[in-house]
Amino acid sequence: MFPQFTEDQSAIREAARDFAMSEIDPGAAGRDASGEFPKAILKQLGEMGFLGMTVPEAYGGAGVDFLSYILALEQIAYADASVAVTMSVNNSVACAPILAFGNEAQKQRYLKPLASGELLGGFMLTEPDAGSDAAALKTRATKVDGGWKLNGAKAWITNGGVGRYFVTMARTDPDKGKKGISAFILDADQPGVVMGRPEEKMGLRSSKTVMVALEDAFVPEDAMLGKPGDGLKVAFGGLDGGRIGIAAQALGIAQRAMDESVTYAKARRSFGKAIGEHQMIQTYLAEMEARLQASRLLVYRAASLKEAGKTCTVEAATAKLFTTESAVWLCDRAVQIHGGYGYSREYLVERLYRDVRVTTIYEGTSEIQRMVIARELLK
Ligand code: CAA
Repeated sequence: MFPQFTEDQSAIREAARDFAMSEIDPGAAGRDASGEFPKAILKQLGEMGFLGMTVPEAYGGAGVDFLSYILALEQIAYADASVAVTMSVNNSVACAPILAFGNEAQKQRYLKPLASGELLGGFMLTEPDAGSDAAALKTRATKVDGGWKLNGAKAWITNGGVGRYFVTMARTDPDKGKKGISAFILDADQPGVVMGRPEEKMGLRSSKTVMVALEDAFVPEDAMLGKPGDGLKVAFGGLDGGRIGIAAQALGIAQRAMDESVTYAKARRSFGKAIGEHQMIQTYLAEMEARLQASRLLVYRAASLKEAGKTCTVEAATAKLFTTESAVWLCDRAVQIHGGYGYSREYLVERLYRDVRVTTIYEGTSEIQRMVIARELLK
């Protein structure tokens, strides 16, 4: 266990674990099969303060530290990674940028309902032709009386169709390149925001991910986040915290794969003994545990730095890169240890293997994390 946990951090971790195993875990396989969005669970998470964990109580949040949030997220992911990504996006890339860049009126109007869980939020940066190269986004924000009209397409939007307020990046000045992008708080409850059908994904099947068409979507004057041209700063600043969150999600999935593998290795017998007594299985388990422990330290360290207000771009990228790559490898080994049963929907590791795969892709691919780390090293 990480030695620096305070009493509060331990209590939050325990509360998250209890809720995850009693309320989230039992229905996870069913939701994976049906694709049903866990609305009631999200409502309960909101009541527990888990949807705006680091947001001060005055703005509807729980007002706890960033490491507590990460510990809670890891426990939720242990039970159901789909619930975890919904929680992560609301906390990290919807609430956090509004808290960091919003003015008082924006915090009262938009942050309060998102942090309290009354409404869900999301983040619209990615476009069909602008994923890793976020600055290539084409969505236009054109000035009109009283605000802006947004036109363009956004892709892979988590919480699309179930969320209300989205931190949205659009080009306000096409001649200014990266400095011509601004951030807005977009209200999705209007005819100009057209949510597509949920994507048919390999994993995370009960979280909602959609394409969004913006057709003269209106944003009022007072819903610009930060100054004109601040769009990428708002987006990338939020992604530092978001990446630690996704690393925590991967950690929770990987820990579950580990625990399932140990249980199976003790129960399953071959050649006259438990498979865990074969050195080949022991080698897998030992390597899995080593990567898990290293991942955990990286994630908690990045979270502690963020809480201390230190720049943590490299630490967040490192934690995400190592933890998500390790988690994908770990879930692959878990399937291998389970043999044919690991390939069957009857066994949990099959879902973990599908759910974990996207963690090396979203909120910045592993290739982008390597680029972020190397750029800082070479500065
Ligand atoms: N914090 C704050 N500001 C930052 C920053 C950070 N970590 N990183 C960059 N910036 C600022 C820069 O300082 C710069 O502003 P100035 O010019 O004023 O200094 C501005 O942002 C632009 O930065 P760059 O010039 O470095 O931008 P770039 O075009 O070279 O891109 C990149 C860099 C790292 C490749 C970036 O495009 C990137 O991270 N791409 C990946 C995109 C991504 O992660 N998308 C995830 C989508 S969200 C998601 O997946 C959620 C979900 O559904 C789960």
